[in-house]
Amino acid sequence: MLEDTSFAIHPEKTAKMAKENYLEIGDIKSYIHSEGKWNLTCTNGNVLIEFYTNEIIKIEMVPFGKNAYTNSKAVVLETSDVAVQFTENETELLFKSNTLQLKITRNAARVYVYDNNGNLLTGDGEKGMRYKHTGEVLCYQTMEANDHFYGFGEKTGFLNKRGEKLTMWNSDVYAPHNPETDPLYQSIPFFIAFRDGIAHGVFFDNPSRTVIDLRSEENYYSYEADAGTLSYYVFAGPTMKKVIEQYTELTGRMPLPPKWAIGYHQSRYSYETDEEVLELVQNFTELEIPLDAIHLDIHYMNEYRVFTFDYNRFTNPKQLIKQLKEKGIHVIPIVDPGVKEDPEYLIYQEGVKKGYFCKYMEGNIYFGDVWPGNSAFPDFTNEEVRKWWGEKHEFYKELGIEGIWNDMNEPAVFNETKTMDVKVIHGNDGEPKTHRELHNLYGLMMSKATYEGMKDQLKGKRPFVLTRAGYSGVQRYAAVWTGDNRSFWEHLQMSLPMVMNLGLSGVPFAGPDVGGFAHDTNGELLARWTQVGAFTPFFRNHSAIGTLRQEPWAFGEKYRDIIKKYIQLRYQWLPQLYSLFAESSRTGLPILRPLVLEYPNDPKTYNLNDQFMIGDNVIVAPILQPSVTDRALYLPEGRWVNYWTDEVLEGGKHQLIHADLDVLPIFIKEGTFIVNGPFKQNAGVKDNQLTIHFYPSESSKYEFALYEDDGETFEYEKGNFMCKKLQVECNGENIYLSITDDGLFVPTWKLQLLVHNGDCKSVYLNGKKLPEVDDNLYVV
Ligand code: GLC
Repeated sequence: MLEDTSFAIHPEKTAKMAKENYLEIGDIKSYIHSEGKWNLTCTNGNVLIEFYTNEIIKIEMVPFGKNAYTNSKAVVLETSDVAVQFTENETELLFKSNTLQLKITRNAARVYVYDNNGNLLTGDGEKGMRYKHTGEVLCYQTMEANDHFYGFGEKTGFLNKRGEKLTMWNSDVYAPHNPETDPLYQSIPFFIAFRDGIAHGVFFDNPSRTVIDLRSEENYYSYEADAGTLSYYVFAGPTMKKVIEQYTELTGRMPLPPKWAIGYHQSRYSYETDEEVLELVQNFTELEIPLDAIHLDIHYMNEYRVFTFDYNRFTNPKQLIKQLKEKGIHVIPIVDPGVKEDPEYLIYQEGVKKGYFCKYMEGNIYFGDVWPGNSAFPDFTNEEVRKWWGEKHEFYKELGIEGIWNDMNEPAVFNETKTMDVKVIHGNDGEPKTHRELHNLYGLMMSKATYEGMKDQLKGKRPFVLTRAGYSGVQRYAAVWTGDNRSFWEHLQMSLPMVMNLGLSGVPFAGPDVGGFAHDTNGELLARWTQVGAFTPFFRNHSAIGTLRQEPWAFGEKYRDIIKKYIQLRYQWLPQLYSLFAESSRTGLPILRPLVLEYPNDPKTYNLNDQFMIGDNVIVAPILQPSVTDRALYLPEGRWVNYWTDEVLEGGKHQLIHADLDVLPIFIKEGTFIVNGPFKQNAGVKDNQLTIHFYPSESSKYEFALYEDDGETFEYEKGNFMCKKLQVECNGENIYLSITDDGLFVPTWKLQLLVHNGDCKSVYLNGKKLPEVDDNLYVV
């Protein structure tokens, strides 16, 4: 491709990059206020101001001749009746909720958003909102020297994106994911800006090609879109956690997944026959390596036709799937959007007859080359098409399938541009727009069709959907894997900030292909990667056709035993992780977190890339390089306890720690606890006993909501769940445990409390002294 040659830096090209010939929106001439919205008419267009809640404000620039952006596929929150105080004077209009203040100058319509202490959150400074007659829109916001930027979804590079220039244009990138490889498969034009301990968020809702530039100017960042309107939301914070809650209030939260989906997944491009699948399962069972899901890549289909099986390779899929389910293993087939052009194939016939495929304005169907060859692409931007596609999943439901893997949904097409012709027109639920304007929505809308279709089909059971492409709001429908990484140590390193930033962008259920997809992995890399995978919310080993096999046993006993230990560890941590998933589905907060989320006052956490937290009290510091068994670990204030040895380390500084190949360094904050269970062959096996591991300190109080339900249905929505609020207080001598229960669900397990590190005098549960049944062990 020309772009891979020096042509990429052709002198003619730089001219196109200049932000020139833009027209400012101009002075405010008049305004009207109706139904909670302010519509300001300016010299060259309109500005709309709307409070969604006290903490969320929307600002939109609508050039003359364009329509307001009314059909957002990202936003699910309806505006509420917010009491807004409006005042005006000669120079400005002022809007005030009880949390945010917005000022807009009459001259040049410059917008400034403040918190109610008067701290500036976003500000136009000397540069206002602007547009070109050719459709581009642009705005600048002032940037301070000490601003840090997080979020932006799925991006390579480090955690703090200050100094980056990020493009949003969902792309199939098989070439290595380098620090400069941008864009990737997902577009989430949302970020958290963090300044002097105060955070706010910004979401630019525009699914065309957009660029957020935090690099080119010292005192400003800019946001530019190829098409559409400039429509953005400011979130008040004031903490990073609050920003995430507010952003996910606007764009929705992850529904609680079935428990099996947070177990271990095994994949390969491809397990090609039923014998191969059965042998795989047999290995897992015999070796006692837990397994919850097997993915079937494109070879399961009849010449890559979606909604078919190749019966030569899989003689009786229904029987196979049943057999696996009896062992607690779920089968997840891949479903791509490309429908093979074949007049004898039902899905193609129906799509053509009903007019469901993406078309040009002139009426001809758009065809692109993907795995099945020449293919048509359903127009998922239309509700009728989404419903049709969803209903087609009856095929998979009938076979006993409960999880679907959506791939190639950028959409990827094998051509120079890597995607669909931007001239294609999408129906867009009655507001037709070009693919150029809506490109980034395709994956989101496909996941929606799949999730909702499967949910309908499964009649009360929770579906699982995995997607490669997406846009803001993707968390409502699917988990995200980070695409075609490679078996490079650098990619293991890079996956940490990537998954952390996805979590900060409202997408908690994410993870990379463990072991690396392309390129050949090796035993050491697979072992270290599986250690990390045991704690990434989505945990799947996947590898490409033609690469070395990378199942847990592929590199001999030494590595196999370590890999097995960590897959088993995932299951021991399942009660803790499932509780964090439940919390995330309620609040939007990530499960896997950067340290800055919990320690925002500690500058050492601001760009900490090689360690992460699970919830608010566990630090994981993996080894991310070959032949290395020692590393620097940063521990924030407090004392931290080594999960494996109970050794106590002082926080507030760096420590040099040792970790042999079989050790993943894990630290629990003193004064807190975690809940572990026994390992098991899959998530469906019921536990008898869970253990609260408490790490006492001189004086502490800690609370955690332990969550449980049937793990597979939506009954929890009707109150059939159990949420145990566990609170432990400690004064150096005694431990006071209090438990309050919520919900109707009765778990199969009993709880015990194990006190680590030394004796305590007594343990009290809700005021009653507990007998010590063994050394430091108490039945709760
Ligand atoms: C894409 C996917 C990869 C999959 C392959 C074949 O490259 O990203 O995960 O294995 O297609 O379907």
